[in-house]
Amino acid sequence: MAEFTHTPVTVDGKVAVVVGGTSGIGRAIALGFAADGADVVATSRTPERVATTADELRELGADTREITCDVTDRESLERLRDAVREEFGTVDVLVNSPSYIARKPVREVTEEQWRDVFEVQLDGTYRATQVFADGMDSGSVINMASLSSLIAIPNLAAYSTAKGGIDAFTRVAAKELGPDIRVNAIRPGFIQSDQTEGTYTEGTPRFEEIRRRTTQGRMGRADEITGAAIYLASDAASYTTGEILTVDDGFTADAFDA
Ligand SMILES: NC(=O)c1ccc[n+]([C@@H]2O[C@H](COP(=O)([O-])OP(=O)(O)OC[C@H]3O[C@@H](n4cnc5c(N)ncnc54)[C@H](OP(=O)(O)O)[C@@H]3O)[C@@H](O)[C@H]2O)c1
Repeated sequence: MAEFTHTPVTVDGKVAVVVGGTSGIGRAIALGFAADGADVVATSRTPERVATTADELRELGADTREITCDVTDRESLERLRDAVREEFGTVDVLVNSPSYIARKPVREVTEEQWRDVFEVQLDGTYRATQVFADGMDSGSVINMASLSSLIAIPNLAAYSTAKGGIDAFTRVAAKELGPDIRVNAIRPGFIQSDQTEGTYTEGTPRFEEIRRRTTQGRMGRADEITGAAIYLASDAASYTTGEILTVDDGFTADAFDA
């Protein structure tokens, strides 16, 4: 057989921090990483959520710590980074998955709502990436993008604009932090979570649009994002950086019959 090399898609043995890792997509990624053999710190603002997720991670065999953080507070991110490095010796993977959304039309969205969305989504992603890149010799950062940076979703101007910033930030950070640190993003479709709860219920025109434009006619589950995160975090992705990987069951590929 001619020379053949193959790097498995796995995070086994890695140390991962998932910010916004106690609910929805972040929690699914944290649990998936743990099931695949990583040690994982899943963090967010609420101590009870952090403790519950830590129990779930331990049940899956991962070593973990219960540390809260708020992405709007740089010091809390620095404390998190220092604690994880002290306890585990390294951080191999950072997932940025905190969520905040304001559903308001352009004419009505307030300065405060606009700022709050940016503060968590875009500034939080920048802040956590910068804090963790400081002292990360090598590794992988995974940000959460959105379809809303590609297509216009009315009422989501602040969210969509912040997500457009995450696309741009991901590409620039990939160039600057490479080759040692790879920076990618996942662009999920419409996924069931706290963020989407009650918004895309069956029978509404929004849900019908999701049904029509996806191949399976349904919203996604948070665990359907996990595989993409495991790939991007794994050594199998050694030549993948600056990429935004869409996982939307064909929603953005949809047009009409010719
Ligand atoms: N669901 C979708 O359809 C969808 C689609 C595209 C993109 N996304 C993106 O995917 C990411 C995760 O969304 P999700 O739907 O999984 O949301 P989610 O279920 O609402 O979870 C959000 C998580 O972020 C944490 N969080 C909120 N504010 C925070 C802060 N200031 N600092 C640290 N953690 C904070 C929450 O915990 P605490 O409240 O305890 O802090 C929670 O763990 C977001 O970036 C979202 O924009 C979601």
